[in-house]
Amino acid sequence: MNCGHCSWDLPDSAVTPEAFYLQRREFLRVFGLGLAASALLPPRISAESVTFNDSLNASYKLDGVKLTAEDLIASYNNFYEWGLAKDQPKELANRGWKTRPWSIEIGGLCASPRKIDIDELIQLLGPIERRNYRHRCVEAWSMVIPWDGFPLAKLVDLAQPKPEAKYMKFTSFFDPANCPAQRGNGFPWPYTEGLTLPEATNELAFLAVGLYGKPLRNQNGAPIRLVVPWKYGFKGAKSLAKIELVAEQPKTLWNHLAPNEYGFYANVNPNVDHPRWSQKSERGIGAGFFSGKQPTLIFNGYEKQVAHLYADMDLRKNF
Ligand code: MTE
Repeated sequence: MNCGHCSWDLPDSAVTPEAFYLQRREFLRVFGLGLAASALLPPRISAESVTFNDSLNASYKLDGVKLTAEDLIASYNNFYEWGLAKDQPKELANRGWKTRPWSIEIGGLCASPRKIDIDELIQLLGPIERRNYRHRCVEAWSMVIPWDGFPLAKLVDLAQPKPEAKYMKFTSFFDPANCPAQRGNGFPWPYTEGLTLPEATNELAFLAVGLYGKPLRNQNGAPIRLVVPWKYGFKGAKSLAKIELVAEQPKTLWNHLAPNEYGFYANVNPNVDHPRWSQKSERGIGAGFFSGKQPTLIFNGYEKQVAHLYADMDLRKNF
């Protein structure tokens, strides 16, 4: 860790805080034994049998950038189905809400629609890879998160879009029986989001099923969520129940609630302020009071990978 020039060769353990790394090792060891003991039972895919290898993708390492601590990622959340305060989802999404077993529907304008158990989908789309991504919320705070998952493009391939399909629509869970807010806090549930198909197949678009080498916690969007790091965090719909290929630009929850504040594209852009606050800088969560404020980067630092998608677009109009 103290040898800057050789950081390219760092093992995954070097960017993962030691305690969590060991905890995961222990978790895999104990589980290994558990699996051996149950070898006589019919094979069953479960959250626990999904392996999270040390598989950091070297293209998405973010050299020199410090990862946000796992406990902060798991306790400072936006998940309005479970309360409006940042500390509520951790509490309220873990009072009996079950995110396994879980099935997800892949449908719409595609040749290969299906309703599939999440762990079967993970097996189909695996192996799971690790990517360290910047995460910038529209509220002007940010984190750096080591996600585990797979490129969304793999799911697009699996679905086989029809030629008329131009967009992807993402729908989060809808479970009013177990989620009190969905029985009527005024939001048009379920949470919905969307991407154009070229965005969905961009190399950065990702489906996360874990972070820091462990299955996603409920408050972070278990068992599967969208991650589009060049866009504001609200595009990353959590706890997905349905992914559809569609012909028209889908209506999204935030766009429906406040169309003048939350556009469809929502690309991170320090030059286009939110109507109620500046987007020029951001507060790094856990970065400390003095070092916390940092400039916001166009496309959240991913200009090289995504700027071409918007070459002919007025980013002020298509905000
Ligand atoms: N998905 C659902 N279903 N409900 C939500 O309230 N909040 C969004 C996004 N996805 C949200 C959601 C917002 S505003 C942000 S910034 C990120 O999730 C926060 O993700 P995190 O809590 O894992 O950091």
